[in-house]
Amino acid sequence: MIKLDHDPYYVFDSKKRLTIENNIVRKRFPVAAYYLNELTCLKLLKKNFINTTGINHFPFPEIISHSTTYGLLYEIKMSYCGIPAFYNNAIKPKNLKNTVQCICDNLKYNNFLYKDFNATNICIDRAGAVYLIDFEECIPKIKPHLKDIISEYYEYPKDIGEYNKMPLTHKAGVWKKRPWSMLYMFKHV
Ligand SMILES: Nc1ncnc2c1ncn2[C@@H]1O[C@H](COP(=O)(O)OP(=O)(O)O)[C@@H](O)[C@H]1O
Ligand SMILES: [Mg+2]
Repeated sequence: MIKLDHDPYYVFDSKKRLTIENNIVRKRFPVAAYYLNELTCLKLLKKNFINTTGINHFPFPEIISHSTTYGLLYEIKMSYCGIPAFYNNAIKPKNLKNTVQCICDNLKYNNFLYKDFNATNICIDRAGAVYLIDFEECIPKIKPHLKDIISEYYEYPKDIGEYNKMPLTHKAGVWKKRPWSMLYMFKHV
C-alpha cells in the first residue's frame, strides 16, 4: 500500500511500479509486451472513441507521454481516473449503465479482448464518473474470424438478474471478470 499525500485513499501497488502525483499516473512495465499492449489499446481507444450513450467523460485513461529504453525501461504517463471501485465506500457512480455500455461498445468497436474486469480495474473519480483502466493484458488485435465471439462477449447478458443477486465476493465462474460485472461493482455505496 502506498499512501498518497494529495488523496485520502490508499492505492495498492503490489509490484511497486506505479506513482500517482498531480493527477498523473506513471506506470512502469516489466516487459515490452505489456507496455505495447497498454500503449496500443489506449491510443486506439482515444483515436476511435465512439460516444454511443452520450456520456460526459472519456471513460479510459488518456496518454500524456510514453518512453522506452528497450530491454530496460518501459513507462507510460497517463491521466488519473480516481480510486478503484474496490476501495470506494463513499462515491456514488453517475450514469453507470450508460458508461458501462459505452465502455463495452468501444472495446467491441476496437476488437479488443479485455479479460480482467475486476473492482481494482474499474475506477471512479470524485464527480462519480466511472473508468476502465489496466490494458496491459488486453489483446488489441483479435483475429478477424473471432469477431463474432468478441461481439457476443460484450453484449448485455440476458441473465444479468442472476448476477445482481450475488454478493460482490461471489466467485461465480461464468460471471467473474466478464464485462457486465462492471455494473455491480458499486453495490455497497
Ligand atoms: N489511470 C489510473 N487512474 C487511477 N488509478 C490508476 C490508474 N492506473 C493505475 N492505477 C492504480 O494502480 C493500480 C494498479 O494499476 P493497474 O494498471 O491496474 O496495473 P496492475 O493491476 O497490472 O498492477 C490500480 O488498481 C489503480 O489503483
Ligand atoms: Mg489492474
